[in-house]
Amino acid sequence: MCDINAVPVLVDVDPETLCIDPAKIEAAITPRTRAIIPVHLYHRLADLKAIAAIAKKHKLHLIEDCAHSHGSQWDGRGVGSHGVMGSFSFQSSKVMRSYEGGALITSNEDHYWKIVSQRSCGREFKPGVKVHSGNYRLTSLQAGLLRGQLAALRRNAPIFDRNGRALDAAVAAAPGVRPLARSPHITRQVGYCYVFLYDPDAFDGLPGSLFRQALSAELGWTFGTTYTPLNHSEVYYPHTKKRHHLSAVYRKAITPSRWKLPAAEALWKDRAIVSTWHLYGLAPARAGLLTEAIAKIYENRQELLKRS
Ligand SMILES: Cc1ncc(COP(=O)(O)O)c(C=O)c1O
Repeated sequence: MCDINAVPVLVDVDPETLCIDPAKIEAAITPRTRAIIPVHLYHRLADLKAIAAIAKKHKLHLIEDCAHSHGSQWDGRGVGSHGVMGSFSFQSSKVMRSYEGGALITSNEDHYWKIVSQRSCGREFKPGVKVHSGNYRLTSLQAGLLRGQLAALRRNAPIFDRNGRALDAAVAAAPGVRPLARSPHITRQVGYCYVFLYDPDAFDGLPGSLFRQALSAELGWTFGTTYTPLNHSEVYYPHTKKRHHLSAVYRKAITPSRWKLPAAEALWKDRAIVSTWHLYGLAPARAGLLTEAIAKIYENRQELLKRS
């Protein structure tokens, strides 16, 4: 975003879903706001109904970041199609992958031709439509890989959804933890990571980091935490682009620490337990393993605290 001199305004997340909190969006809108970009993060979709209503009210574009949600549906319609544009990542860790690359989808023909130009060094594919750019083309080999995966996703998406629901039920049956809230509008959830919520108080103050360690040791799968909140992210340092000769006003506007994101910080520190999407491969009949492992940690929480 900083490549086009836009000012990203960070909005805190809903602690029950880890996606942008619609109740905090309107306070962040200024006369210069042009778009709302919700990320459908990990194991849930952002509240598209509420966000689309805000976008409409303020005449803003809605652009969905679907890097984590290939094949998910909101009210029976695929993510990425609810606003003017949707973006997908095919980087190597994603559910669909060509090892690097991505896709933008849009139902707006004007945007389409601009994107086609921008993808290919700013060349003119429709007379009069040129957008100065670099090379963002996907190779034919990558496209071939992805077409096969698209066919597989059609078959596998309902299985992801079924297994994800079983994991949620397994978490709901365990002490001191709970699944993320699932909106009834989510008609199909394909997640990138399986995530649930941890309550350190219920574990007599056992920090999230120790719970994650213990659960990883119990099950032999890795349980970690979320991405670092964007206000001190390891990949958001826009002010380091000195060659752009940023003005003092602009530098101040894009300085990430200007935002406070308490919900994202609490999740990152203690409250979110994040595994990879491979956990969705666990058949529902075996999801109880998760309940048992969490219950075992709960029973032994005092012992773990003593050792910490
Ligand atoms: C939520 C989210 N959005 C966007 C991206 C960017 O995708 P890419 O690495 O394909 O540019 C990522 C990458 O991991 C992501 O996790």
